Amino acid sequence: MAAVEVIGELFVEPTPERVVASSADWILARICIVLTERERCAVALSGGSTPGPVYRRLAEAGASGAFDSSRLDLYLADERCVPADDAESNARLVRESWLAIDAGPTLHTPHGSGDDDPAAAAHSYGVLLPDALDLVVLGIGPDGHTASLFPGTATLAASDRVLFIDDSPKPPPQRWSLSARALRNARTLVTIVTGADKADAVHAALEGDWDPSATPAQLARRGAWFVDAAAASKIQGETR
Ligand code: 6PG
Repeated sequence: MAAVEVIGELFVEPTPERVVASSADWILARICIVLTERERCAVALSGGSTPGPVYRRLAEAGASGAFDSSRLDLYLADERCVPADDAESNARLVRESWLAIDAGPTLHTPHGSGDDDPAAAAHSYGVLLPDALDLVVLGIGPDGHTASLFPGTATLAASDRVLFIDDSPKPPPQRWSLSARALRNARTLVTIVTGADKADAVHAALEGDWDPSATPAQLARRGAWFVDAAAASKIQGETR
């Protein structure tokens, strides 16, 4: 029987707007704590439609001097194998929602290290990645995926830090993703979720029988979760 991962901190907010504000404040506090302990802070960011407003708030905080953003290294928790300026690119999302407001952080992406050989680019990116990221910002799909780790795929057993995925059920099919190992080695994880369509996945991730191959988002169970009321509507246990 695998050890059941304990639930970390769960914050249920009434609206998506409150989820954005409270998760951004929490991430900012974590970045500031890391920068009191170490010279640089390494944060991996997810894509999708949810986190953009969070990244904008963090960029505004950095631009206003809330922390020294020149000491922040940004990575991608996953990326689609598309050109870096493609509308589908998570690197483009980070550039438009964060670096366009505050150019202080350094963004490291898998692009350019062999786009014509995405499997080789995944390995090169994995070598570049710190063994223990300070923080990984994650989302969750209705199917329980996180980053680009999807249910029922063999990727969870892979030992590399970064994986090349060529059968993503969420288009586009070819992606790079942090592996389960990279998520396990991260110092802190935070998952940001809104919307009733995620309610079943949130319940499975936080309260379901431990089976990350069926619900990869369980890999973030130990971290912080910022969830709006709609996405939290099927959580059985008590919520804050
Ligand atoms: C991606 C994301 C992915 C995302 C979830 C939730 O590149 O597609 O990293 O893992 O976090 O699919 O996406 P939404 O925020 O759009 O619901």
